[in-house]
Amino acid sequence: MTAPVLTRPHGPAHTPQGRTALRRAARRVLLHNWTGTSTVPSHGLYPHQWSWDSAFVAIGLRHLSVRRAQRELETLTAAQWGDGRVPHIVFNRAVPLGAYFPSPDFWRSSTAGAAAGAPQEVETSGIVQPPVHALAAWLVHEADPAASRRRGFLPRLYPRLAAWHRYLADRRDLGGGGLAAVLHPWEPGMDNSPCWDGPLQRVEPVPASTFRRADLDHGAASDRPTDLDYGRYVRLAADYRDRGYRDGGPGGAHAFAVEDPGTNALFAASEHALARIAAEVGAAPGPHVRRAEALTDALVTRLWDAQTGVFRCRDLRADALVPEIGVGGLIPLLVPGLPADVVRALVRTAAGPHFGLGDTVRMAPSYDLAGHAFDPGRYWRGPAWFNVNWLLERGLRQHGYTDRADALRDAALDAAGGSGFAEYVDPYSGEARGTRDFSWTAALALDLLAAAPAPVLAAPTPEEDTA
Ligand code: SER
Repeated sequence: MTAPVLTRPHGPAHTPQGRTALRRAARRVLLHNWTGTSTVPSHGLYPHQWSWDSAFVAIGLRHLSVRRAQRELETLTAAQWGDGRVPHIVFNRAVPLGAYFPSPDFWRSSTAGAAAGAPQEVETSGIVQPPVHALAAWLVHEADPAASRRRGFLPRLYPRLAAWHRYLADRRDLGGGGLAAVLHPWEPGMDNSPCWDGPLQRVEPVPASTFRRADLDHGAASDRPTDLDYGRYVRLAADYRDRGYRDGGPGGAHAFAVEDPGTNALFAASEHALARIAAEVGAAPGPHVRRAEALTDALVTRLWDAQTGVFRCRDLRADALVPEIGVGGLIPLLVPGLPADVVRALVRTAAGPHFGLGDTVRMAPSYDLAGHAFDPGRYWRGPAWFNVNWLLERGLRQHGYTDRADALRDAALDAAGGSGFAEYVDPYSGEARGTRDFSWTAALALDLLAAAPAPVLAAPTPEEDTA
């Protein structure tokens, strides 16, 4: 395919005025999506609090209000279960049940999850999302260490984050190889990635006539997962709920159990952040450093495909690597201490025919451009997402690929502004897909703007001074 390449050579990233306008617009999105205690990803499509969304939002919100960024993570982790899991959705009881599916009366966390220690005062889902939270907490602390210490932010967060990581390490190592398994395609956050198509074949979908999707009230059906996908999502979630949200168990109780490189890379990176947090609060960092290193080793041992130069998912029911190439396989670039040959191969793969970064596209797609299931518009089957590209930007930068990181930052800023802070974009055209005014797109744009060197002749405006 030839390359329109998200081309906005003179987009917002390239002028001081463009950056100022982008910053203002991003702030407006975050102010609009703030509920008073946390941020909705979007008022229509996702009207509650989502776990990894909140972590990414906090990373951007720290440039707008450190206090709100702290609050975002405190609200989320206050809904932590007794077994340590941080639920993927914390429901807002003021939102009508029909506004989102599956609603609290589907998950029934306070009753079905009681044995696992689900909170009684708030309803949540029973599954989890990738552990970006310790990384976010550390970045929020770093934004204003004095304010953080004054409020006792990290001493309050540390035990929650430590329990969360313990849950993943102790209860989710279903493969026994030192990685955390995901039990539902919503857990790695990349719902309908073709990486799950194979493992999902074992799951009997419930008929679409037995549930009503609310997402299609807010998004084009062609941008969203299919009814068949939803039938399987519902089956897996209902089975997990009906087992009291118990993990493990005899005989491979889970129809879907996968080791995902994105989730485990974020676990490793967050474990490094937790070591810094531990040192800051006077706890021992050593166990966290050791776990981060063990996760890094396990990622390479269990998921690295040297021939293709990408990390793959491991289907634990088949004990085999999944053949599909998803962008989760590049996320380990974020992990400090990844072997140098693996880093080099990942950078080559990102720029090669599977992801085309800096060649046929400016932002990494969510799935193999050459893959049989590639679809540039459908959720996680091809579109470029801002959180993933932010993670890759940080990964490239930390390993010294500064020019590539700068180009990716500028591309993400151009696409964020050009798409109205879309949830995701067509990787070739940059056309907006999914919902607009999406919180993490705005938040991560703010973060990229804050880290970027000011363009030549940039003068701070009064508006920027008060940001
Ligand atoms: N991403 C899911 C949804 O579309 C939930 O985590 O609702």
